[in-house]
Amino acid sequence: MSIPQTLIDPVLTGFAADVADGLTQPGQRTLPCKYLYDEVGSRLFEAICALPEYGLTAADIRLLRQHADAIAATMEAPMGAGHGGGAGVLVAELGSGSARKTRPMLEALCRRAPVLYLPIEISPWALARSQRELADVPGLEIAPQPFEYLAGLAAATARRATPRWRQHPMLVLFLGSTLGNFAPAEARTLLRALRRQLRPGDALLLGVDLVKPKAQLLAAYDDPAGVTAAFNLNLLARINRELGADFDLRGWQHRVRFRHHRIEMHLRSRREQIVRLEAAAAPLHFRRGETIWTESSHKFRLADLDALAAASGFQPHRQWVDSIWPFAENLWLSA
Ligand code: AVI
Repeated sequence: MSIPQTLIDPVLTGFAADVADGLTQPGQRTLPCKYLYDEVGSRLFEAICALPEYGLTAADIRLLRQHADAIAATMEAPMGAGHGGGAGVLVAELGSGSARKTRPMLEALCRRAPVLYLPIEISPWALARSQRELADVPGLEIAPQPFEYLAGLAAATARRATPRWRQHPMLVLFLGSTLGNFAPAEARTLLRALRRQLRPGDALLLGVDLVKPKAQLLAAYDDPAGVTAAFNLNLLARINRELGADFDLRGWQHRVRFRHHRIEMHLRSRREQIVRLEAAAAPLHFRRGETIWTESSHKFRLADLDALAAASGFQPHRQWVDSIWPFAENLWLSA
């Protein structure tokens, strides 16, 4: 008898357990949004970032280009005094993706001092891509961290056990409004845990998308070219590919709604149907119109950010807001 691959590979075992758990819940079924990013999903997400309707990435890039020098100066000015021992900055990026938008920030830092860049990313495809993208930045050393956020940050801060990097401040980048993919209570818990791993003189650059008119947000997450629909549906295709399920993708529809300051992405069953999933004890029955909730994207108000900084132990230092697509870059110090 052959042993299913899901029982041999620990990554697949976690994926299978999370999928089985989310799809057998009574009431609203869910799937964790982190599983949207296999190689196909990561490529589709890159395409989303280039869509005119999804202004978020362009705003993030604009702000980083405009203010990279000011951010780099903050890392050396008030903090340099306490650190001494030659120049240098560690940069840890949570969910670095392809790191395309990080380049101007790293270039500005590298103009002032050598940089050790620690991209933290669970997608091996995106991690390899970021290494290729940044290979030519002078003065940049790259040490990929193929872990989830907090484990990756622990591995990144462990670099300061070595004499070369012991003295230097760390800038943590959490860009692209990825924080918005966490429920508010989880976001606070994550930021607090992150803050506990930092020391005085370190900083967090947090990029978040702001609340804007509903029609604009719905178009950003349900674009007319269907790229976001393909990104969402690919999650079912991935479950078929990796977990031996038999979702018929034609039986599912991408659906988006905006409520409670968040965009919700769902997959809606077009008809009554039965799906087989190796990791589930019994076949799954879906009613017509029933949805699987695959992602939330919380949108922030400026006042939320001050409260969040206070609740997580950070001291707000600078804030920049894009004038075309409301998006805020927040530089917080771990005073
Ligand atoms: C990665 N994350 C911040 C994106 C967002 O806007 O929530 C993912 C995304 N989902 C659909 N479009 C983009």
